[in-house]
Amino acid sequence: MQTSSSKSPGGKPIWWAVALSESIGQVKPLAAVFDGEELVLFRDSNGQPRALRDRCPHRRVPLSLGCVKGDKLQCGYHGWTFDGASGQCTAIPNLRGEEKVPAHYAAQAFAVAEGHGFVHVALGAWAADASPPELPTAGYPATGPEFTGSAVANISHAEYLAVMLDGPQCLLDFSFVRMTDFFLGDAQRSGDQLVLDRGAVWQSQVLPSQFVADYPLIVRTTVPLVGGSLRVELLTGTELPLVTVQIASGANRRGTTSVCWRGYVHTENLAGMPLRWRAGRAAGRDPFKLHAHIDGAAIAALLVAPSRELAAAQGSTQKIVPIRAVA
Ligand code: FES
Repeated sequence: MQTSSSKSPGGKPIWWAVALSESIGQVKPLAAVFDGEELVLFRDSNGQPRALRDRCPHRRVPLSLGCVKGDKLQCGYHGWTFDGASGQCTAIPNLRGEEKVPAHYAAQAFAVAEGHGFVHVALGAWAADASPPELPTAGYPATGPEFTGSAVANISHAEYLAVMLDGPQCLLDFSFVRMTDFFLGDAQRSGDQLVLDRGAVWQSQVLPSQFVADYPLIVRTTVPLVGGSLRVELLTGTELPLVTVQIASGANRRGTTSVCWRGYVHTENLAGMPLRWRAGRAAGRDPFKLHAHIDGAAIAALLVAPSRELAAAQGSTQKIVPIRAVA
């Protein structure tokens, strides 16, 4: 893990995965909105990812419209230049020789860490007495070719998390798999996450899912109590992993949700997979697909069930302190 700063002055940070590592480069900055925070991301000359608030302190133009200059980001409007680590304004065009850039001219800078194929930014709040968290994507050790993407989903972030428990089939598909409405037990608290298993069948199953007695597959959803990193796994009935998808999610503007994801197939467990599934893999077909356009009617029809436990567990998180991490 590369870390530019792992703690904030005001408290312990909560890491939000906000972008795929490969989406951030050294030429063009990337705009991202997570947890309602407008960010601009780029890499400095050492390849270290940097994050600033996406607002120029001069005239509030998005800094993401500017360009990367070595370790700095230059606003595209009047050319003020900001250091990626501190946010300090380091240059203003047309200053006279004796004039200096005032020290208080600065963009908000955030702590950044990179690992497991995601860039993480410290945002929001964390329980004051909790240990500093590891990166939320730590349990994602990809062992095969990955399938990645990003989108803005037309649903609020709170609902996105709730639907991932109540009806993940509204948010994503696994190829040739039909998720059923049957939970294989209650949602389990695991640290600061809620984990729920539901039964699934191969799509070739003749009977409708409500008449199915055996579930040869398990879809396991892991939803955080704090933050936005989700995991969805397709497992065999004996809990051998087949596909793992790690999803970074966070509130975007106007009740929408930013999502980016990466997932892979556990090729060591493919022996029992149906032939057409393996053929699809050989043809390069994605083993899963996330939806950006969410079917409102399908969501309205979902029972509000395990997400109640999520809401209760979220309500029980104790003392929260706001933080703003500065690199
Ligand atoms: S708005 Fe950015 S330099 Fe003027």
